[in-house]
Amino acid sequence: MDNSPITSEVLDNCIIQTDVPGGAPPYRGKVRDVYALGEDKLGIVASDRISAFDHIMKQAIPYKGQILNKLAAFSFGKVDDLVSTHIIDVPHPNVTIAKKCTPIPIEVVIRACLTGHAARVYQSGKRVLCGVDLPEGMVENQRFEEPILTPATKAEEGHDEDISEQEILEREIVAPDLWEEIRTRAFQIFERGQQIAREQGLILVDTKYEFGLYNGELTLIDEVHTADSSRYFYADEYEQRLKEGKPQKQLSKEFLREWLMDHHFQGKEGQTLPDLPDTLRKKVFERYAELFGKLTGKSFDPTPIQLENLNRELEKIFSAHR
Ligand SMILES: Nc1ncnc2c1ncn2[C@@H]1O[C@H](COP(=O)(O)OP(=O)(O)OP(=O)(O)O)[C@@H](O)[C@H]1O
Ligand SMILES: [Mg+2]
Repeated sequence: MDNSPITSEVLDNCIIQTDVPGGAPPYRGKVRDVYALGEDKLGIVASDRISAFDHIMKQAIPYKGQILNKLAAFSFGKVDDLVSTHIIDVPHPNVTIAKKCTPIPIEVVIRACLTGHAARVYQSGKRVLCGVDLPEGMVENQRFEEPILTPATKAEEGHDEDISEQEILEREIVAPDLWEEIRTRAFQIFERGQQIAREQGLILVDTKYEFGLYNGELTLIDEVHTADSSRYFYADEYEQRLKEGKPQKQLSKEFLREWLMDHHFQGKEGQTLPDLPDTLRKKVFERYAELFGKLTGKSFDPTPIQLENLNRELEKIFSAHR
């Protein structure tokens, strides 16, 4: 018998977009609908949209928004002694009420291993990534001696681009003192993420942080250590798979990226975005739910969503904060 919570009804009931009445329309990111609440708060709704290679897929992943929002809340709680976080409240499985920050337009990427984009750059023959020298003779997924910082610009539109720390300072995107604080905090938060992952038998491979300023205070925003923003491997199989040159078992979006590449899509011009079959949508759900269970130690318990009531439900929550 199939005990999966992902029935065909659930597959048809994903949150693709919200339209909460009673205020200005939201800013729609690739995954989140962001509503301004009053002067200094945001109502952030994690939808079930999934993006890869900077494109939003046509099909959504059941319960992905809930998993992401709850996992982010859990992980923010694990680092809030290291840095201020944007969390005010999580009043609904898909919603975070957050401090409205002035975002710093840099994606702060930290990598412990030569994986994903870094591996693709390395395989193309380059030995410098974002100003960081990469040693010769590395193989895909191999650990760096120390985690490295490989920032990207947060483009208004389209692809985020790699940038070196030196360039961030030269182009005066971030002031030197603030950048120093950001890089110090980012490495500390990453170390904490690695420690939490290790305790659960996982390796935190790489991740992306976003920071903002709230009343002048450096604040961690968006999401942290989730399946969308981070890669995780299983620790127990890591060495063996590395030695045998086998791919690692991925608990992240890399799984979807690989499927897309097999279907000739890497977000490049002229390529067609393939439809995600239901079996794949279910598998992606399972990976996300598995990561949630592993990291939090609690199995993911989906909250049924009634799409026809959702906008009204959200409006009620938001009106308390307007
Ligand atoms: N506390 C916060 N204050 C201000 N902005 C925030 C805060 N938290 C998240 N954001 C911004 O809200 C948006 C969240 O949407 P989402 O995560 O879907 O975007 P994204 O696809 O990652 O990025 P993009 O905005 O480039 O599409 C992001 O632009 C993020 O930078
Ligand atoms: Mg984001």
